[in-house]
Amino acid sequence: MKYYIATDHAGFAVKESVKKIIKDLGHHIEDLGPSSAQRVDYPDYAHLLSEAVLADSGSFGILVCGTGIGMSLAANKHEGIRAALCHDAYTAKMARAHNDANVLCFGERVVGMGVIESILKAWSETNFEGGRHSQRVAKIEP
Ligand code: RB5
Repeated sequence: MKYYIATDHAGFAVKESVKKIIKDLGHHIEDLGPSSAQRVDYPDYAHLLSEAVLADSGSFGILVCGTGIGMSLAANKHEGIRAALCHDAYTAKMARAHNDANVLCFGERVVGMGVIESILKAWSETNFEGGRHSQRVAKIEP
């Protein structure tokens, strides 16, 4: 599976660890930046990543900021992006199983590396269940 990742300065510190976990899970991940911990505006990276995910059918995105809130708000402005702010393995699993989420957001200031690892594992191991959830997901787009 192909993943893209982007952060702001408040999510930068975990970026390399997240990339390693995704690679160890057997996936390919492309880093869309930033390349340093200098202060940046999270919407710039949320929009960049959302466009990459939409252009690469079947791919997933990972967005990290301080809380994950700003990234998810900005990414969800894109038609076709379903960005889920996840706090643990359960929310990550359900975001995939019931919501067919294609962008995972979390906050570096909210969850530690152990929880981040469990989030990434749950996300990558869970497929969309379809069925009754398909019509609900279809109704998300205005
Ligand atoms: C940056 O200080 C912080 O506001 C940002 O990373 C994010 O948490 C916004 O939602």
